[in-house]
Amino acid sequence: MAHDLEQTARALVAPGKGILAADESSGTIKKRFDTIGVESTEENRRAYRDLLFTTPGAEDYVSGVILYDETIRQASADGTPFAELLVGRGIVPGIKVDKGAKALAGAPGETVTEGLDGLRERLEEYVELGARFTKWRAVIAIGADIPSEYCIWTNAHALARYAALSQEAGLVPIVEPEVLMDGDHTIERSFEVTSRTLHAVFTELRDQRVHFEQMLLKPNMVLSGYGCPRQVSVEEVAAETVKAFRRHVPAAVPGIVFLSGGQSDEDATAHLNAMNAMAPHPWELSFSYGRALQAPALKAWGGRTDNVSAAQQAFFHRAKLNGLARSGSYSPEMEKLAA
Ligand code: 13P
Repeated sequence: MAHDLEQTARALVAPGKGILAADESSGTIKKRFDTIGVESTEENRRAYRDLLFTTPGAEDYVSGVILYDETIRQASADGTPFAELLVGRGIVPGIKVDKGAKALAGAPGETVTEGLDGLRERLEEYVELGARFTKWRAVIAIGADIPSEYCIWTNAHALARYAALSQEAGLVPIVEPEVLMDGDHTIERSFEVTSRTLHAVFTELRDQRVHFEQMLLKPNMVLSGYGCPRQVSVEEVAAETVKAFRRHVPAAVPGIVFLSGGQSDEDATAHLNAMNAMAPHPWELSFSYGRALQAPALKAWGGRTDNVSAAQQAFFHRAKLNGLARSGSYSPEMEKLAA
């Protein structure tokens, strides 16, 4: 079992490939569908995920897909369950297992992620449904007086409890402490909060006996807040991000798979590319993007069956460019080339 987990973790960060996060909760996918004027029905959600998962050639750049509870129970148009379809294409299926960020008692503006109660039993079922890895997202907001140490450590403790239970169930945990980049904070502040968060997360992971070789970390990049007047260069983002992670992430962790977190798709690709251009690193540096992989495809689809092929081409193109960013071989000129 231990050997399998390490192998799965390494397969997820195989060279040239990364993860598609398609685990939007019902609330989040509704928000995405609202932007294209499509009603969030169960069938529309199924059809949209089907389009992504059957994109020809995507398996060359996509190592794994994170599913949502509803999605792992759904099937492709021909009746093949999604998890089985993905495995058949050499893509590892995974599942989001947290139940979302809820207000943290006594801490205005801060949240703690819920979902530990009954998790052991839910994990057993996800194993039956074909999942090989899991994801849990903690959310840390930056503001005038936040985050508090209370918020950081409470979330870190829950992340470690989740990760230990996942490994016990034979599933690779993807540990996601997301420091939000909303706000006008500087990149220095982003560096400081990301560092405090990583320190707490790896302290808890070690104390709770999580095997570093059998997990992946899914963090934010170190950016200027989106509202900050001083936006820095791609190279500065790459340098600050790598600096923070080198200080806090053990080399035993096979890979760091970044979230896109509201960056434009092109920025997310350029930042990953710049970090990989600084190689070698102690770990693989890859992607686990939701919005930055899906945005052009979602727009091209617009809820219409006759747009499926155009949407698949748009998804393929983004997956390929991020695949190239895994080795620092991406350049912005490639954005103009057709898929
Ligand atoms: P984004 O890349 O859109 O931030 O989504 C990744 C994810 O899975 C957030 O939990």
